Amino acid sequence: MEKRIKEILALEPGEDTIKAEGWVRTKRDSKNVSFIEINDGSCLKGLQAVLDRSSFSDELISKLTTGCSVSVTGKIVKSEGGNQDVELRAENVEIIGECPADYPLQKKRHTVEFLREKAYLRPRTNLFGAVTRVRNTMAYAVHSFFQENGFVYVNTPLISASDCEGAGAQFQVTTLDLENVPKTPDGKVDYSKDFFGKLANLTVSGQLEGETYALAMKNIYTFGPTFRAENSNTTRHLAEFWMIEPEMAFCTLEGDMDCAEKFLKYIFKAVLDKNSEDMEFFNKFVLPGVIESLEHVITSPFEHMTYTEAIKHLEKNNDKFEFPVSWGVEIQTEHERYLTEEIAKRPVIVTDYPKDIKAFYMKMNEDGKTVRAMDVLAPRLGEIIGGSEREYRYDVLLDRMKELGLDPAAYWWYLDLRKYGSVPHAGFGLGFERAVRYVTGIENIRDVIPYPRYVKSCEY
Ligand code: 4AD
Ligand code: MG
Repeated sequence: MEKRIKEILALEPGEDTIKAEGWVRTKRDSKNVSFIEINDGSCLKGLQAVLDRSSFSDELISKLTTGCSVSVTGKIVKSEGGNQDVELRAENVEIIGECPADYPLQKKRHTVEFLREKAYLRPRTNLFGAVTRVRNTMAYAVHSFFQENGFVYVNTPLISASDCEGAGAQFQVTTLDLENVPKTPDGKVDYSKDFFGKLANLTVSGQLEGETYALAMKNIYTFGPTFRAENSNTTRHLAEFWMIEPEMAFCTLEGDMDCAEKFLKYIFKAVLDKNSEDMEFFNKFVLPGVIESLEHVITSPFEHMTYTEAIKHLEKNNDKFEFPVSWGVEIQTEHERYLTEEIAKRPVIVTDYPKDIKAFYMKMNEDGKTVRAMDVLAPRLGEIIGGSEREYRYDVLLDRMKELGLDPAAYWWYLDLRKYGSVPHAGFGLGFERAVRYVTGIENIRDVIPYPRYVKSCEY
């Protein structure tokens, strides 16, 4: 394989002929020489190639425009300019694909809104190149963390017949003719005629199926796309996002919280270790202080408090909130931020939420009012992880499902899992884009995934 620009930039000047392939970011002409900066996505910095104009035709020089793809061979020499140690003295320049003047990415800085419309080109910008590399490091770190700790990677289905979070935020999957929907005698949609012979949806979480594998393999994790038809037009919500969901058998909430904390620290540290150039870019142009805030998260033990304690802290400050709190209400982003930024000054794990604001599968506490849930809250962001210990007692789970109006028959296998060798188990879900957004300091979640899907937007 040819050398990537990152490797070329690390070379010493020498007599070897080196080939660089990439896209021209900028060109500067002077009387005798032209400079082009070539980028191939391997790092933020480009390679400067210097062309002696007497060796190249004016036609070639004029076709070397921002955005064109080139293959340049030459020797590595010490650079005379101050911006780089070495540069490529070009001996042969081949333009592979020309790029006309209507190329949307010009030298000036573009807004993220503009770039979102040009999503097929945005990875060629400094910002999106850096995001893409950081996302890659984090994905790799997710796998290394779990693999190093003996977890088995499991692929749970994307098309599902159950609703894990019970929030009714699912996208339906159907091949029925929507202009002519088959009906049963009593006027309902006849799903027996649909592709799967029953109602099917895109999954909101791989957890329920993940639990079945944890109760065989002990520790598993999933890492895949999930889908939510929430009508949330915010900087934190996507309709299609990636989630990491570990599940551990013979494990209670304590082990779950411990795993979540170690996991977050591990993936944040991986980025600081491997992407220092990209992180310096974010620190300078996106969010000053982002590096320091990650270092702070990595070195601080997370604070723990119950929901009831959290509400006590928040109630004292109700005058500061748009939505004042009281026991029983959902904790919203403004409250989550207050807890982490003002009260704890570090990440906080809130546990034991009221059962009425959490999903059906969470383990009931003795008080009958709260469940063994946990949310990991991060400064600047709010909820980054949601998890719980699962209800592993058959009768308690059945009662809870009936209480919530869920059809036990539809979850027969999930219930039966509690009949055959049930055991305490726990897990959590990390929204991958929330994590990438946190690490990069990028404001909008739509800018940390290649092709964002959200309400009224499904471009590309
Ligand atoms: O809190 P949630 O809904 O929990 C679950 O889905 C559980 N089944 C996880 C588990 O215990 N295995 O979602 C988990 C995380 C959230 O904390 C958040 O980071 C992210 O997924 N998330 C979203 N990210 C982007 N866009 C959305 N619409 C999201 N909804 C949740
Ligand atoms: Mg949640």
